Amino acid sequence: MIKNSILIIGIIGLFVFAMFGLTILPKLYIEPNVEKANVYVWGRAAEGHKVYVSHGCIYCHSQQVRPKGFGADIERGWGRASVATDYKGLTPHQLGTMRTGPDLSNIAQRQPGRDWHLLHLYNPRTVIKESIMPPYPFLFEIVDADKTLKEGLKLPPEYQIPGKKVIPTDEANALVDYLLSLNQKDPIKPQQN
Ligand code: HEC
Repeated sequence: MIKNSILIIGIIGLFVFAMFGLTILPKLYIEPNVEKANVYVWGRAAEGHKVYVSHGCIYCHSQQVRPKGFGADIERGWGRASVATDYKGLTPHQLGTMRTGPDLSNIAQRQPGRDWHLLHLYNPRTVIKESIMPPYPFLFEIVDADKTLKEGLKLPPEYQIPGKKVIPTDEANALVDYLLSLNQKDPIKPQQN
């Protein structure tokens, strides 16, 4: 009987300890900092976040850089270790677990060019020959060159379509705005957790 009660107290104790350590303590410690943090994503970048979510980029890309000692993320040049305030603003958060492609937490530092991102989305192999990322041609319109004044993608010769222009849709431009907002150049606000 006594043995049983020790077991039950042990189980409950472990549960309370885990709940305190994994949920209550982080909430008390991290949440006030996140509340204070002055981080906003707005406009087309917020629209682009929806596109990112709806096309399932999370199935191949994470947005969580692990600190030193927890893997080689920093050595890979993916940016500084992620902190809670990085995730303020846009839900659902796109932390991800799969890394078929690189982590995108700091992609705007590695690839700051809008044209590069548009080409890469239209067909990754236009810029990275051996890329296995799927193309997203449905985010673009193929229009007769003489029927539009809009600027088309600057495709390499082998991808050009004679007499046509490839024009990014609003969705594609918004997605690129979102990717360009993934930038860790600013100091962490207000403090690292
Ligand atoms: C099936 C897996 C897969 C999916 C889905 C996928 N990617 Fe990728 N992505 C990759 C791979 C692999 C690479 C590395 C090769 C390359 O750069 O093309 C990559 C590279 C990238 C890069 C360049 C990263 C760098 O460090 O230079 C960006 C930006 C990117 N992907 C954005 C996206 C976006 C936005 C989506 C959703 C619309 C998406 N990816 C969906 C696999 C994927």
